[in-house]
Amino acid sequence: MLEIIKSRRSIRKFKEEKLPKEIIVEILKAGLLAPTSKNKKPVEFVVVEDKETIVKLKECKNKGGDGLTTAACAIVVACDCDKSDVWVEDSSIAASYMQLQIEELGLGSVWIQMRKRFNDNGDAENQVRNILNIPDCYGIVCILAIGYKNDDMRPYDENDIDVSKVHYEKY
Ligand SMILES: Cc1cc2nc3c(=O)[nH]c(=O)nc-3n(C[C@H](O)[C@H](O)[C@H](O)COP(=O)(O)O)c2cc1C
Repeated sequence: MLEIIKSRRSIRKFKEEKLPKEIIVEILKAGLLAPTSKNKKPVEFVVVEDKETIVKLKECKNKGGDGLTTAACAIVVACDCDKSDVWVEDSSIAASYMQLQIEELGLGSVWIQMRKRFNDNGDAENQVRNILNIPDCYGIVCILAIGYKNDDMRPYDENDIDVSKVHYEKY
């Protein structure tokens, strides 16, 4: 597991190749099996492969969406805020699980933040909901941009691990 965690880097350039359906299903399984508060399982996913729609999603915020430009697939992480008072945590854990599964499958991904992000038309989450017909009571923490890597990112190694962040017994 630590090797997967070390090799995962944010990938923002992808090859043209589409992802096989089975691969997308494997990624989703990781998100669907992620732990959630009180086991409420409030997180849902919208899989988008249509290029025009992916570009529309990228444009929901002013900057930081470039990873979506060449993505073969975008997975929108949506969570029913009425079902969970900790929907941000539930969504984030599901997205992180999927990012590790994506790495394990030899693919790349980047987290594109949507919550608390804006463009000139306003709130990014609102625009994502409108584009994809997601109900208003769903929060959108992020969209994962996914595809075959076309970016050479150095994997992390032991030197990247800052052990000074860890405190034992007391801070
Ligand atoms: C909460 C969160 C929000 C992020 N938002 C974006 C984003 O909007 N666009 C982007 O390209 N990367 C985004 N990232 C990716 C980070 O920039 C990246 O994880 C960080 O620079 C460390 O690089 P690494 O993922 O290669 O380890 C986000 C990551 C997290 C955890």
